[in-house]
Amino acid sequence: MKVAVAGTGYVGLVTGVCLAENGNEVTCVDIDENKIARMEQGISPIYEPGLEELMHKNKERLHYTTDYQSAYEDADVIFIGVGTPEKKDGSANLTYVYRVVEQIAETVRKDCVVVVKSTVPIGTNDKVENLLKNNLKHPVNISVASNPEFLAQGTAIRDTLHASRIVLGVEDKLAEDTLRTVYAGFKDVPLLITNRKSAEMIKYASNDFLALKISYINEIANLCEIVGANIDDVAKGMGYDARIGDRFLHAGIGYGGSCFPKDTKALNWLASYNDAELKTIKAAIEINEQQKLKLLKKSRKYYPDFTGLTVAVLGLTFKPGTDDLREAPSLVNIPIILEDNAKVKAWDPVGQENFRRKFPDDITYCDSIAETLKDADICFIFTEWPEVRALTPEDFLTSMKKPIVLDGRNCLDYESFHSSDVIYESIGR
Ligand code: UGA
Repeated sequence: MKVAVAGTGYVGLVTGVCLAENGNEVTCVDIDENKIARMEQGISPIYEPGLEELMHKNKERLHYTTDYQSAYEDADVIFIGVGTPEKKDGSANLTYVYRVVEQIAETVRKDCVVVVKSTVPIGTNDKVENLLKNNLKHPVNISVASNPEFLAQGTAIRDTLHASRIVLGVEDKLAEDTLRTVYAGFKDVPLLITNRKSAEMIKYASNDFLALKISYINEIANLCEIVGANIDDVAKGMGYDARIGDRFLHAGIGYGGSCFPKDTKALNWLASYNDAELKTIKAAIEINEQQKLKLLKKSRKYYPDFTGLTVAVLGLTFKPGTDDLREAPSLVNIPIILEDNAKVKAWDPVGQENFRRKFPDDITYCDSIAETLKDADICFIFTEWPEVRALTPEDFLTSMKKPIVLDGRNCLDYESFHSSDVIYESIGR
């Protein structure tokens, strides 16, 4: 099939590359000339393990362009994979989606299926269909389908090629048949056909459920601290129950990233807009905001403020395996630490350059963990990079002025740290 993909972020590019891997002829469209030029040279604009290798492997079937006209006019299928960032009121900003829709309407010259892959509020696909039909320049038949994505950053290729499910929200046979052909290569992946609104809801309900699960375990972790239980054991004990499952029960300083924070707020907004209330999601959002400050609260018993102290920070990104800083706990905590006039030293294996762009002057960026810890009065762990997980009490004891370690990801071995001379605190243990 001849496929065009609008947007070359995580959703668009990974989708395009994986569809090419399964035999489709794919053109990726973006407005950013610089990005397109880099992709033509085989360089991925996002940090995603395995992506460049797959771009290279499928280079005969993958094309990149800023010229949307040439990409859309004779495509069988056009995927929309542009961002839907959060607006100030918590709702999803659909400007980029609708801009692509207008471009498609003015361009297409043959019957095709337009597939919304971006995460969009329930009912958006209907609006996309109306917008297309009202603005078509040429007499063609267009079907609109919803096909949400479930990939996570860092495992995006595996999550797409071996997806947990492919959800196709369709209202007509053309859309269903065309998408079945596009996805024919994804043999071992369950396919669920629904109507468009259900498909749109599946995406939000899935992400918000995972966010809720994290906020739930974080709240239980906070209670574990008070009553003397250990959240690691509690989560393990819960996880054996297949009805609960053992994933996304890892307590810490809260979820970040470009999806959970945005999608919980967007669904909450949609509910209140329709005079409904999502009490569970509201609670998940509130708990997460408080959780992000949990380490800082713990630190206050050691230092009421950080004036004149050296603070070491390990990990800046919202999770390991990505250079993405969006909604990362580091972004909430570091400005508060800086306001105290602390000297902040930070390390992150891939997120450092992005962080430097936001905070160019106030932070000393270090090349190694040892350099970061040297002479520090306290250490905050915000991301569980493998290099951080591998640290032993000795690493902190030999470098820090005062070995106070606050582990926001429960990534260090509790027993060895607790029995060492390190003053060690984590979440719910
Ligand atoms: C998430 C979902 O996992 C994907 O299924 C979804 O497709 C994607 O959003 C999206 O909508 O695009 P992602 O944001 O890449 O993927 O990251 P996750 O691995 O889900 O982690 C999100 C946050 O939750 C991270 O900050 C992570 O540290 C935190 N988390 C995760 C926990 O605190 N505890 C856990 O047990 C799991």
